[in-house]
Amino acid sequence: MEFIREYADWFYLIGAVLFILTLRGLSGPKTAIAGNRYGMIAMAIAVVTTFFVAENPVVWMILAAMAAGAVVGIARARTVPMTQMPETVALMHSLVGLAAVLIAVAAIIHNNKLVELGPDLLTANGVTFHEMSKVHLFELFVGCFVGAITFTASVFAYGKLAAKKWAKTISGGWVKPVQALIFIAMLAAGIHFFLTGSMTSFWAMTGLALAFGWVWIAPVGGGDMPVVVSLLNSFSGWAAAGIGFTLENNMLIVAGSLVGSSGAILSYIMCKAMNRSIINVLFGGAMGGAAAPTAAAGAQVQRNYRSGSADDAGFLMSNADSVVIVPGYGMAQGRAQNAVKELANLLKEQGVTVRFAIHPVAGRMPGHMNVLLAEADVPYEDILEMDEINSDFPATDVVLVIGANDVVNPAAKDDPNSPIYGMPILEAHKARTIMVIKRSMATGYAGLDNDLFYNDKTMMIFGDAKKVVEDMTKAINGTGH
Ligand code: TAP
Repeated sequence: MEFIREYADWFYLIGAVLFILTLRGLSGPKTAIAGNRYGMIAMAIAVVTTFFVAENPVVWMILAAMAAGAVVGIARARTVPMTQMPETVALMHSLVGLAAVLIAVAAIIHNNKLVELGPDLLTANGVTFHEMSKVHLFELFVGCFVGAITFTASVFAYGKLAAKKWAKTISGGWVKPVQALIFIAMLAAGIHFFLTGSMTSFWAMTGLALAFGWVWIAPVGGGDMPVVVSLLNSFSGWAAAGIGFTLENNMLIVAGSLVGSSGAILSYIMCKAMNRSIINVLFGGAMGGAAAPTAAAGAQVQRNYRSGSADDAGFLMSNADSVVIVPGYGMAQGRAQNAVKELANLLKEQGVTVRFAIHPVAGRMPGHMNVLLAEADVPYEDILEMDEINSDFPATDVVLVIGANDVVNPAAKDDPNSPIYGMPILEAHKARTIMVIKRSMATGYAGLDNDLFYNDKTMMIFGDAKKVVEDMTKAINGTGH
């Protein structure tokens, strides 16, 4: 065991490399399982090594906390439906934030106790005592306030996503000044703590940071919460890294930084794919603007569209050479992924080339469509990202849009006045024939009408995604009606 303590930094280095491989693995569906395994091994190495590195750990307490966490974690992982994943992730981030706050509080109380006992007495009893340096106070300051903000902001994000009554969106002219006031007071208390080590300032800073987390996120609209959750993921990483400095634990610093930077990159990718800026997401609501782009209210112009039946659509697809399926939020909402996979298999059996086209923000969380299609065992090689498939649409016989709307809205390319102008889209409008399954002519997340539905080449097939897709399969099989 002395061996582990002596080579702790080497074990941590192995853990850090495995964590990097984890992120690399998680970036693609084929390697995601291996990525998860690397993560588990890295975490096991980190935890075991830390047991041996810690000075006088209270082993039973740590084991009891780990056991309790494992029971709750396993139970939740086994039961959580895919649709509740974003709120579960938000709740997990809140725990990282809370842990950062508690560690900072414990480190300060511990240090104060040592000071009370008197350095001379400690030295006489063989305890090494270091006065808290300014660097140390700064680390505690940053770790604690970032952790506190992450905690309450994540609890709010959880409540909002889970549609809890207490997570009410706040709005009004007072919000911005109150946010600014709390933020300035929090910084002032933190700086005073940093300069003087005053405990009163420390508690004030922590309390104000907790309040700030709430008022900061409460004005953000529900639809923008996935970006906020990803940003809070990044925050929780930075809080952990800050605490890693406090505890002088290299593993925590590296792991925290990895989470911090990957969360920041993901938030950036999400914002870019939605054509929003992070500032707009975080402060759009508070500034009195719409939290998400919504269509200007005005007289709805009656426009003509063509609708058809599942039977017609099935017939057309079975006679096509190539079909591209574009899934969107409606496929998730209608839990249609298994039915879609069956339809794809049947078409393939009939010699049709079938592929899936995935937009980076289709659905309501990153990787939403990939996860659902993987759950239905759709082969990875049939699933193509937007950049890989866009140039193939003009040569595609049929594009089947299932519950997608904004991600195929041509206004993003053609209409400079559209709120989503500039957002990259799947260019389904370029296919030879377009079929769209949705329940009505209602708008999608962005609240915008979609020219694709009125295109001469488009056939609307109205109904719940699962039911319509099943009917298509029956029609192709010749078992329907
Ligand atoms: P949306 O634009 O939201 O459109 C989904 C469509 O599905 C709706 O028009 C709806 O029309 C239809 N639908 C809903 N339930 C259905 C069901 N059971 N059966 C059939 N159709 C159904 O979806 P999208 O194209 O996937 O775009 C995603 C949007 O969410 C984008 O604007 C994106 O910016 C935003 N967003 C994404 C994320 C991430 S990370 N993915 C995060 C936040 C926001 P009907 O009501 O007429 O059926």
